[in-house]
Amino acid sequence: MHIPVLLHEVITALEPKPGNFFIDGTLGGGGHAREIIKKISPGGVFLGLDADKHAIENARRELESLGKELGSDVFVRHGSYTEIQDIKKEKNLGKADGLLLDLGLSSNQLEESGRGFTFMKNEPLDMRYDASDNRNNLTAEKIINGCAEEELADIFWKYGEERKSRQMAKAIVTARKKKRIETTADLLEIIGERRNQKTRIHPATKVFMALRIRVNSEFEHIESIMEQLPSIVKGKTAIISFHSLEDRLIKEGFKRIEKEGWGSIQTKKVIKPSYEEIRENPKSRSAKLRVIQILSSRF
Ligand SMILES: C[S@@+](CC[C@H](N)C(=O)[O-])C[C@H]1O[C@@H](n2cnc3c(N)ncnc32)[C@H](O)[C@@H]1O
Repeated sequence: MHIPVLLHEVITALEPKPGNFFIDGTLGGGGHAREIIKKISPGGVFLGLDADKHAIENARRELESLGKELGSDVFVRHGSYTEIQDIKKEKNLGKADGLLLDLGLSSNQLEESGRGFTFMKNEPLDMRYDASDNRNNLTAEKIINGCAEEELADIFWKYGEERKSRQMAKAIVTARKKKRIETTADLLEIIGERRNQKTRIHPATKVFMALRIRVNSEFEHIESIMEQLPSIVKGKTAIISFHSLEDRLIKEGFKRIEKEGWGSIQTKKVIKPSYEEIRENPKSRSAKLRVIQILSSRF
């Protein structure tokens, strides 16, 4: 089960109140959403999105009935947070009082998706959040078997900061001449099992993360939502990331919004999970939360 990270910090920062309109752009298992709906009720409006159709099937039922019980309108939609503006228009919704993005993967996707997000299981190398989207048929398998050696090395370096990116790309290209690399186990066999002596990080960690980020255009989506924020929200936006490069994009995006006069950064220092939270949920250890208050509206 997915445990929502920095839940208390997110709710404190976003200050959802009865009657507010809130958006959760990365709904997942609905952990944050549940608390937001309770706070905006009665009379609130909630829009929850997720790029992964399967991820939201269970959350949808539960959140819609919670909304009914508490007297708020709850809409759950399959889609990317980069499409919020179109989805809002469809539903005739104005600017939101608050927006949450909790980036990356949920534990449910790691444990149950069968799409090769983790090297702990032997699964096909897909890694798309939205395997039903005909616009994105780029899978990790296509990248691993189709990209030139240099391109592979660039992906591992740019999205995973993998220091042995060239060495790994070379090993992959050599191996795929003999046999197509189709599963997480195939890839793991090539990358090897020896953990970094100092960090204890498994050698496949960064390669798997880099592939997932590339397959789902995750950096591009962050850049796109940064551009759109002042048109979507008239209140606060909270973004949780788990990757230093993502955090940098968010930090720079917020700075740009502030410089242009659209917002005021609320987290001069990034918020991290407490020692207690990390002890209870070790997966939260790399989470970073940044918050911005959007000041005026753009049309
Ligand atoms: C860390 S989980 C969210 C967990 C959620 N906050 C909870 O408490 O259960 C991140 C979710 O974001 C989704 N996601 C990733 N990129 C997305 C995008 N561009 N648009 C919408 N959802 C996205 C993933 O499918 C995943 O379900």
